[in-house]
Amino acid sequence: AGSGKFFVGGNWKCNGTKDSISKLISDLNSAKLESDVDVVVAPPFLYIDQVKSSLTDRIEISAQNCWTGKGGAFTGEISVEQLKDLGCKWVILGHSERRHIIGENDEFIGKKAAYALSQNIGVIACIGELLEEREAGKTFDVCFQQLKAFADALPSWDNVVIAYEPVWAIGTGKVATPEQAQEVHAAVRDWLSKNVSAEVASKTRIIYGGSANGSNCSDLAKKEDIDGFLVGGASLKGPEFASIVNSVT
Ligand code: G3P
Repeated sequence: AGSGKFFVGGNWKCNGTKDSISKLISDLNSAKLESDVDVVVAPPFLYIDQVKSSLTDRIEISAQNCWTGKGGAFTGEISVEQLKDLGCKWVILGHSERRHIIGENDEFIGKKAAYALSQNIGVIACIGELLEEREAGKTFDVCFQQLKAFADALPSWDNVVIAYEPVWAIGTGKVATPEQAQEVHAAVRDWLSKNVSAEVASKTRIIYGGSANGSNCSDLAKKEDIDGFLVGGASLKGPEFASIVNSVT
């Protein structure tokens, strides 16, 4: 782990029912969580209110997406103001499922991120390469391009966490090795130091996502530039998610 406070987010994606979420909330409420870790969960929009009203305040809430500006005539969208109204502190943006399945581009993602920050909502900014990009030796190019789009759009990095999620590792059970993840995290930090500032490079948490679970997290967490995790599948199990939070070294 790096120098900042460890950060662990649970991205529930499009999963859950009122019943399964109420069970997950009670497991999280009874879990013992290491005190020096920021812990965040991102339920589907529909369940944010349920989670906010029964989950311990120890855990902050993130949305999985937001609109690019103030609400209004934008059918099907959710505004940052509405997220704040429900008690959200964070929003996940640039997730590969939104980039590659829904088709969001860098510019659209950058707009959302800038607006969220302007309203004091923290951004979990996701970047990561596809398998074919890795195999073609383009991992750094892809990650730097996505980072640059955030850097060009963002007014400040104060309330931003970067999540490196190699797409080939997401939901596949094929976690990056600690060395593979560390190599990219270090490159991202170096990019920040050259293109933003040394201060932002040292202060910004860079977390890893992609098949992170209770058994592989401790080895990843030992790496110098891995400051936490963004967990998908394993965050749907309260005790396992707690064990990832507690993997901080
Ligand atoms: O945002 C977290 C995510 O994409 C990783 O998912 O299921 O591989 O842990 P998973």
